[in-house]
Amino acid sequence: MTYVRNAWYVAAWEQDLEPDKPMAVSILNDPIVLWSADGRLVACEDRCVHRLAPLSLGHCEGARLRCMYHGLLFDADGAVVQIPGQEMIPPQARLRTYPVALRHSWVWIWMGDPALADPALIPPAVGFDDPDYILGRGFLDYAAEARLIDDNLLDFSHLSYVHAKSFGAGPEFAEERPRLLPLDRGVRFERWVVGTRGPGGRQSDAPIDSWQSYDFLLPGVLLMWSGSFAAGTAERCGFERPDYDEAIGAVTFTSQAVTPTGDRTARYFFSWGPHRNHGDEAVRDMLMRLADMAFAEDKLMIEAQQRVIDRTPAPRIMPTVHDRGVTLFTRLVDRLARTEAGEAVAA
Ligand code: FES
Ligand SMILES: [Fe+2]
Repeated sequence: MTYVRNAWYVAAWEQDLEPDKPMAVSILNDPIVLWSADGRLVACEDRCVHRLAPLSLGHCEGARLRCMYHGLLFDADGAVVQIPGQEMIPPQARLRTYPVALRHSWVWIWMGDPALADPALIPPAVGFDDPDYILGRGFLDYAAEARLIDDNLLDFSHLSYVHAKSFGAGPEFAEERPRLLPLDRGVRFERWVVGTRGPGGRQSDAPIDSWQSYDFLLPGVLLMWSGSFAAGTAERCGFERPDYDEAIGAVTFTSQAVTPTGDRTARYFFSWGPHRNHGDEAVRDMLMRLADMAFAEDKLMIEAQQRVIDRTPAPRIMPTVHDRGVTLFTRLVDRLARTEAGEAVAA
């Protein structure tokens, strides 16, 4: 499958990266070591220049990292600065480094041309530093290609079937289509559900209008806001985006990031929680329990789907009307990947 390289990939939750402790991550099959020391955050190839031992088994010394096999010392720019017992340091003794950024509680790594690494392209998620939201977080490792998870997040018609129990999703997700809007680096989805009683009829005694909107952005990051509004709001807004200040409840934010780690493996990062005016830590914990249940439902289906695909000679798909978002995103990825390949040839 094709992936863009000129994009910021989520490598880790900031909270999981301990100071002075190297962390091994894998993105697009590249082994990467992350470390944060002396106020610097560094991402380098996780492969010592000497005999290819993983530097993630090394030790931080200030902002430097020592390989704990034979003791080569690397600085935060990836250069070897010490070879125990040897005076001369070859000029090519240097690791590949990756542009890295900390934003919205995520560690982001730019996998493409470092000269193009523009922090403005980091998807505008909501992190734990945002006082408006009370979030929980987690991640899941998948034995499946990242693109299958992207496809899942680009087509919520599966909610009516995969998540009928956990989310209490009604038939409207499969029977009605959201409004779609192509974005420069993704696709926007918007949906009003009019006169509902909330998921599984659980949320309110009287009918309400429920709004849900998400952006699915390169390389595979979903940012979703939703909320409940008084009956009649959808019509009054002309079925456009409402003002969240008018919400009567259930305003939540979730971010979900899909990072391809290997050919058939991915890591799926997620957060979810209520807006402070519409919930507290107990609501957050309830949402996280729901998320754990629902994301396990997706994983079961998608990993099983991967196994079937792997056993199928020349697998082909038959898109339905719900695949429009998947198709728009796939075309965007293919177009950018072709541009990247052209740039690589021209360089
Ligand atoms: S492999 Fe790193 S110092 Fe030998
Ligand atoms: Fe799902």
